[in-house]
Amino acid sequence: MILSFVIGIALAIGQHLLYSSLHHKVEEDEGQKVKWVLYGRALAYFSKVAFGMTCIMVYRQRIWTTFRKQALTVLSIDQLFLATEDPSLFLNWEAINLAPLATIMALVIWLIPVATIIFSPGALTFGWYFEVDNAQLMVPTLNFARESTVDWRDPNIMPDGTKKQSLMFYNTTDTQGKQPGFFDYYDQPSFAADRVTQMNALSLTETPLNRPDARQKSCGGNFNCTYTTTFIAPGYKCEELATSSADNAKLDELGAPFNTSMLIPEGKNVYFADVEEGDYTKPQDSRITIPGGIPGPEVDKNSLGVFKSEPILWIGYSVNSTEPLDDDSPFRQNWTHRFDQHIFRCIHYETNYTVKWNYTDSFYKSTIIEQKPLSPVVNTTFSQRSDGSPNWEIPVPFENYVSPRDTQRYKKVAAYHTIGQSMRKFLKGSIEMDAPIPGPSYTRVRSDIQQTRLVSNSTSLPMNDLPDKLQSFYNNMVLSLFSAPQMLVVDREQVLVNRTRFQSTFIYDAKKLWACYSPVILATLIILIVGAWDIVKDGTTFSVGFSRIMVTTRNTTLDDISRGACLGNDPFPLELMHTRLKFGVLNEPTEEYMGVEALPGIGHCAFGVPSELSPIRRGQPYAGLAQRENKRFTKEKVD
Ligand SMILES: *[C@@H]1O[C@H](CO)[C@@H](O)[C@H](O)[C@H]1NC(C)=O
Ligand SMILES: *[C@@H]1O[C@H](CO)[C@@H](O)[C@H](O)[C@H]1NC(C)=O
Ligand SMILES: *[C@@H]1O[C@H](CO)[C@@H](O)[C@H](O)[C@H]1NC(C)=O
Ligand SMILES: *[C@@H]1O[C@H](CO)[C@@H](O)[C@H](O)[C@H]1NC(C)=O
Ligand SMILES: *[C@@H]1O[C@H](CO)[C@@H](O)[C@H](O)[C@H]1NC(C)=O
Ligand SMILES: *[C@@H]1O[C@H](CO)[C@@H](O)[C@H](O)[C@H]1NC(C)=O
Ligand SMILES: *[C@@H]1O[C@H](CO)[C@@H](O)[C@H](O)[C@H]1NC(C)=O
Repeated sequence: MILSFVIGIALAIGQHLLYSSLHHKVEEDEGQKVKWVLYGRALAYFSKVAFGMTCIMVYRQRIWTTFRKQALTVLSIDQLFLATEDPSLFLNWEAINLAPLATIMALVIWLIPVATIIFSPGALTFGWYFEVDNAQLMVPTLNFARESTVDWRDPNIMPDGTKKQSLMFYNTTDTQGKQPGFFDYYDQPSFAADRVTQMNALSLTETPLNRPDARQKSCGGNFNCTYTTTFIAPGYKCEELATSSADNAKLDELGAPFNTSMLIPEGKNVYFADVEEGDYTKPQDSRITIPGGIPGPEVDKNSLGVFKSEPILWIGYSVNSTEPLDDDSPFRQNWTHRFDQHIFRCIHYETNYTVKWNYTDSFYKSTIIEQKPLSPVVNTTFSQRSDGSPNWEIPVPFENYVSPRDTQRYKKVAAYHTIGQSMRKFLKGSIEMDAPIPGPSYTRVRSDIQQTRLVSNSTSLPMNDLPDKLQSFYNNMVLSLFSAPQMLVVDREQVLVNRTRFQSTFIYDAKKLWACYSPVILATLIILIVGAWDIVKDGTTFSVGFSRIMVTTRNTTLDDISRGACLGNDPFPLELMHTRLKFGVLNEPTEEYMGVEALPGIGHCAFGVPSELSPIRRGQPYAGLAQRENKRFTKEKVD
C-alpha cells in the first residue's frame, strides 16, 4: 500500500518535472509535440494506477472489517465486493448507511481518474509566450579608425568572399609602395561610398538605409530588439548666424563669403550655398597625368595631398513668412509677402554618436540620443587678407594640416572628408526665384539640393528649418553606411541587446497540476492511514480472491439458504439477496465440521446469519495453516 502510494507521488512529480522542462519550450515538429503530450498523459495514467492501487488495497481491507461489524444483505455484500467495477453501490442506501467509510473509499477510487487522467494533462497547454530577455550580442557599429590601418594594396577579404571596401580611392607616389618616403594621397570617394551616400541623399524617406536582414542580424534571430551603440563618426554642427541684413556686419567679421544681399528680397536667390571654400582640390596639381596620380619630379611633394582645411558650409536661404508686406515696405513693388532671410554655418566635426536602435518587425528606427562634437575634422581657420576678406588659400595654423605622411591620421580624416564631400556635392549652388510682380514667379535651380528631401515638396523652396534638417540629413547619410556591411568602416561590437519575441510554446501551469493532484494525494493519504489502522486493529490483512470467498462461506446455514441457486446465474433469487449476513466466528461447530477435518479447539470463521456468529477477536487462534498441521490441540470452545 505504502509503496504504491509513494510510486504514485513519484509519478506525479515526474509529470511535474516533464511539464516543467517543456515550459516555454519551442517544438516545431508536430509529431514530437504530440509525443511529449502523450508522455505526460502516460505518467498521469500510471500515477492513477498507483494511487488507485493503494485505495483498492485499503478498500479490500475495509470491507472485511465492515462485514465483521455489520450484518448486510447479500445484495450489499455483492455490491461492496464489486464496487471498484460497478458503481451501483452508490445507489444502495443500506450500503451508504451501514458502510459509509467503504462507500466513500469506493467513491474516491472512482474519482481518482477524473483528477489524474482527465484534468492533470490540462496543466500543459500550447500558446503564445512573450519572451523578454537580453543578451550580449555582436551588433554592427561604425569604426572609422579601421580606415587608418588599411592599405589598398592588400585587399581585405571577408570569410564569405566579399571584399571589404574602403570609403575612398587613393592616388599614390609609388604604386608598388616600395620606394622610401612614398605615400598615398586622397583622390575621391570610392564607388561603394558614392552609392550609399547618393542612395540616401536621393531617398525621400527620413529613415536611413539599412540592410533587409538587419533585424535578424542585430537581434540574433527572429526577435524584436532595442539596443544602444556609441561610435565616432563625422557630423556637422550648424549654427544660425544671420536672420536679417542687420546681421551682415557680424557675418563679415566671421569671414562669411556672402551676406544677406544675396537673398530674396534684396537679392535673387531663395537658396545660396558656398560650401567649397578651402576644399581639397582635384587634381592636386595640374601636372599630374600619369594613372595612379604619380607625381612627376616637377611637382612639389610637400604640399601634395595635404588636408589644409575642411570646408565650412555657408548657406543662406529665404523663407516665405506668409505674412503680407506692409504698404510702406521698400519691396512692395515686386513682393506680396515678407521673406525672412537666414544664413547659417556648419562645421565638420569628429562626433561621438550615441544611437538607439529599435527593430520591430519590418520597422526599424535609429534615434540619435546624443551627438557630441569632439574636434573639427581639420582644425584650421582662414587667415585674413589686408582688406579683411578671408584668404581661402592659406589656412592657419600650419601645424594642424594633415599630411599624407601621417598615414593613420590622414586616412581617417580622408574618410570623414569623403562623407562630407559626398553631401556638399548636393548642397552647392543656388536657387533663384523671380518676384511675383510683375510675375510669373518661378525658380531657376542651379543646385542638386532640389533632388533631395531638403526641399519642400509643396513650395519647391528649401525647408523652413533647414539647419536642423541638414544635420539630420547628414546623420542619416552616416547611418546609411550600415546598409553596406562590406564597407570597411562597418565593424562589429558587443553590446547588451534587449529583445522580445512572441513564441508558440508549451505553457505549463504548475498550480493547475497540483490542484488536480493534491486532493488525490490527500484523500489517498487519509485512506492509507485508515487502512493501516484497520490492519493494526484486525491483526491481519484481507483479500477478495475466489479462494477467500470459498473458505469464508463454509457454513451449513448458507448451504441451506442457497439451496437451488447453485449455478451462480442471474438473476439471483430475490429472497436470498435480501438475507442479511455477517462475518464472524460460528458459535456451535456443526456436525459436518466435527468430523475428521474439524480442528478441535479452534474457532471457525465464516459468513453466516448474525444470530449464529460471535465477533472475531484479535490474537485468538482461528483456522490457519500452522494450527492445521498441529493436531495436538484439545477441543476447546472458543467463545
Ligand atoms: C554684403 O555683400 C555685398 C557684396 O556681396 C557688399 O557690397 C556689402 O557691403 C555687404 N554688406 C555688408 C554689410 O557687409
Ligand atoms: C589622381 O590621379 C589622376 C590621374 O591618374 C588625376 O586625374 C586625379 O586628379 C588625381 N587626383 C588628385 C586628387 O590629384
Ligand atoms: C508666400 O506665401 C503666401 C501664403 O501662402 C502665398 O500666397 C505667396 O504666393 C507666397 N509667395 C511666393 C513668392 O511664393
Ligand atoms: C519689380 O517690379 C517692377 C514693376 O512693378 C518691374 O519693373 C521690375 O523689373 C521688377 N523688378 C524685379 C527685380 O523683378
Ligand atoms: C520600438 O518601436 C515600436 C514601434 O514603433 C514601439 O512600439 C516600441 O515601444 C519601441 N521600443 C522602444 C524600446 O522604444
Ligand atoms: C511631402 O513632404 C511632407 C513633409 O516632409 C511629407 O510628410 C509628405 O509625405 C511629402 N509628400 C510626398 C508625396 O512625398
Ligand atoms: C514584434 O513586435 C510586433 C509588434 O509588437 C509583433 O506584431 C511581432 O509579432 C513581434 N515579432 C516577434 C518576432 O516577436
